[in-house]
Amino acid sequence: MQYVPFGNTGKQVSRLGFGTMRLPTVENEKGEQVIDRPEAIAMIRHAIDRGVNYVDTAYGYHQGESEVLTGLALKDGYRERVMLTSKLPQWLLKEAADMDRFLDEQLKKLGVSYLDFYLLHALDLQAFKRLQSFGYQDFLKRAKADGRIRFAGFSFHDDKDAFIQIIDDYPWDMAQIQFNYLDDESQATLEGLKYAGSKDIPVVVMEPLRGGALANPPAEVEKLIQENDRGYSPVDWAFRYCGQFPEVATILSGMSTMAQVEDNLRIFEHVATGSLTDKDQAFVKTLKDSYLKRLKVGCTACNYCQPCPEGVLIPKIFEIYNEGLMLSRHEAMSRQYKQVIRAEGDASFCVACGQCEALCPQQLPIIDLLQTIDRELRQDAV
Ligand SMILES: NC(=O)c1ccc[n+]([C@@H]2O[C@H](COP(=O)([O-])OP(=O)(O)OC[C@H]3O[C@@H](n4cnc5c(N)ncnc54)[C@H](OP(=O)(O)O)[C@@H]3O)[C@@H](O)[C@H]2O)c1
Repeated sequence: MQYVPFGNTGKQVSRLGFGTMRLPTVENEKGEQVIDRPEAIAMIRHAIDRGVNYVDTAYGYHQGESEVLTGLALKDGYRERVMLTSKLPQWLLKEAADMDRFLDEQLKKLGVSYLDFYLLHALDLQAFKRLQSFGYQDFLKRAKADGRIRFAGFSFHDDKDAFIQIIDDYPWDMAQIQFNYLDDESQATLEGLKYAGSKDIPVVVMEPLRGGALANPPAEVEKLIQENDRGYSPVDWAFRYCGQFPEVATILSGMSTMAQVEDNLRIFEHVATGSLTDKDQAFVKTLKDSYLKRLKVGCTACNYCQPCPEGVLIPKIFEIYNEGLMLSRHEAMSRQYKQVIRAEGDASFCVACGQCEALCPQQLPIIDLLQTIDRELRQDAV
């Protein structure tokens, strides 16, 4: 396992961190999918025995069961061997006092007396402003002072400008961002990552495999990887891409099987800062381009077409379509389109008024595109 210094902790953190959002599941007697406790505990402990010293959970993962499971996995002396992170479910807050209430409940669920890191979970700018109005800084100060948490950070899903605004608001001990070779120009972006680094704020990467999609590439991407003389797997390339940046401390993987734990432990023997050569960098760019070539609609989500007078969620529909094609995830595409139909924002509401086409800076033939996508997705979505 490779290690790097971890910001204000004064400790070294393993480059591979264990994310507990996608633990193995089994069906219970009521037919519900619940965490396979013995297997999940065995996986977490095995990873720790092999050098992982960072574990990430959150209030909501696995319908609230992830924190309970993580607490069980960390019994028998494992708690002292890791840095443990959980997150404030900010969207559930009704008043400022809820921040303390949730933290206390989470410590109880985990069965621990303190968290190494407590993150404000899944911030976008709107959520962050609400937390400012609740006095989040006073809360973090209080929780640090009374020993419930050692360090404070946030996890993030918005754009670069929002990221920088949040970074500049508080002396964070860490920031957690979605980052992988397809997302280095979206969300916080590579620029945001470097900005955090310039302020000595270590970054924890989540979704390094885009939730698993980069492990199962479409045929033409797979072929490129097989033909590359490095002999790396798709998972190798994705982790190595994230791990090359000195601003990245640890890379979370939400491992779902023991075989994935083994595979990732093997890969992280070698995931070191600066370990990709110029030729490797160029190859990752080729992989990214190969994915991007699969995009059919050149929508940049500028939202000029919104609001549509009939409520059609045009950028959302294009995003679902592009993502589904790019990652070869047809089932996900239909499932997401079903949600748009439920929200009554689907293409059937389009009356071809053309307002969107007149406003579109990319000059997309939006009306025709909406019809095509609706034809392709509706049947499986209803
Ligand atoms: N704070 C937030 O807002 C937020 C959001 C997302 C995630 N997170 C945290 O970040 C962690 C990491 O994100 P993530 O779970 O999305 O990570 P990820 O590594 O992008 O995706 C995990 C998935 O990748 C696949 N995978 C992992 N290792 C593999 C291997 N060696 N070979 C093949 N497939 C492999 C598995 O999917 P399959 O088994 O399905 O193929 C696994 O469920 C989460 O677990 C969670 O702790 C936080």
